[in-house]
Amino acid sequence: MTDDRHHSFSQRYASGDMPWDSGITPPEIREILAELPPGRALDIGCGTGTALRAALSCGWRADGVDFVERAIELAAAKLSAFPPDAYRLFCADATRLDALPGLRAPYDLIIDIGCGHAIDTAAARQRYASGIGRLLKPGGIFMLYASHPRPNSTVGWKPAAVTRLFGGRLELIWEQRGDDAALGVPASWYRLRKL
Ligand SMILES: C[S@@+](CC[C@H](N)C(=O)[O-])C[C@H]1O[C@@H](n2cnc3c(N)ncnc32)[C@H](O)[C@@H]1O
Repeated sequence: MTDDRHHSFSQRYASGDMPWDSGITPPEIREILAELPPGRALDIGCGTGTALRAALSCGWRADGVDFVERAIELAAAKLSAFPPDAYRLFCADATRLDALPGLRAPYDLIIDIGCGHAIDTAAARQRYASGIGRLLKPGGIFMLYASHPRPNSTVGWKPAAVTRLFGGRLELIWEQRGDDAALGVPASWYRLRKL
C-alpha cells in the first residue's frame, strides 16, 4: 500500500465521494452466495459492507477488511443487526493479510470488488495474492472484480496479468468482460478456485 492511495481513499470517504457505494450487491456475488453451501467468507476492500450484508443474509459467516477507518465504521453500522459472532471487521491493509490476527481462515469464499486492482507495486501485488492463496480452503472460490488498465493511471489489471498473478495458487474458472459504467473503462469479473 502506498500512503498516497490510502490518503486518497480516506479523503473520498470523508467527503462522501464514493460512486462505487451503490448499496447493491452485484449479481455475480448473489449467484455465488446462492450456489455454495453457507460457509466462511472474506471480503477484501469491503467498503461499507454491502457484500458482507448479502453473505450474512444468506447464512454465511463473513469477515471484512478495509484500510479506511470510516469505511469500517459504516460497515459496522450496516451489519449491526446481525449476531456479533457472525462477522468480524478489520481496518487493515489488503497487502498484509498474512500478518493479520483474527481472520477466521480458511475461507470457502474470498471476494474482492474493486480493491486489488489499485495495488500499485509488484511486491505488494505478490503479497496480496499470496495472502489470498493462503487464506482460501483448497477448492475455495475467489471472486474478483477488476477494471482493465486505464489511460494515465496505475489502476487496472489486464486479464492475462490476473492469470499470471494467481497462477500456481488458483485456477481461473471463468472471466466475464463488461464495461464499468462508473469508471468508463472495460472491467472483468473473474471466478478462480484454489488448487
Ligand atoms: C472501489 S472501492 C469498493 C468497495 C466495495 N468493495 C464495494 O464494492 O462497494 C475499493 C475499496 O478498497 C479499499 N482499499 C483499497 N486499497 C486497499 C488496501 N490496500 N487495503 C485495504 N483496503 C483497500 C478502499 O478503501 C475502498 O473501500
